[in-house]
Amino acid sequence: MTIQIINGPNLNLLGVREPGIYGDTSFNDFLPRLRALFPDMQIDYFQSNHEGQLIDKLQEVGFTCDGIVLNAAAYTHTSIALADCIKAISAPVVEVHISNVHQREPFRHQSLIAAACKGVICGFGLDSYRLAVASFKP
Ligand code: DQA
Repeated sequence: MTIQIINGPNLNLLGVREPGIYGDTSFNDFLPRLRALFPDMQIDYFQSNHEGQLIDKLQEVGFTCDGIVLNAAAYTHTSIALADCIKAISAPVVEVHISNVHQREPFRHQSLIAAACKGVICGFGLDSYRLAVASFKP
């Protein structure tokens, strides 16, 4: 089973960026620990700060992988193009957020992609990714 994790803008700065909200662990440090929890799964990782590159990646893997864990970051709240892409592909997508976006500014309460996703996980820190990957286990 192949799972694709896709991280959007500014998530390359995890560990450095607003650690009070996002923690002090980088994704590069977290990823091997996540992979070790799911030895039967191939977990691929992609990050981009660019909306079009996120769409290109979703289209590239979206007809072949078994599931996608997507933290679209700020594009969650703005991108009709990402929502359309998620609807266009066949792989199920789980939306994740590190922070509980519902406890934050009102503009973070709306997700334009949630309705196109299989489910949404937010507020568990980096553990949100583990919960999302676990949701794809048969
Ligand atoms: C985020 C929440 C978004 O509102 C924000 O723009 C991010 C990160 C999260 O993981 O908590 O960049 O997706």
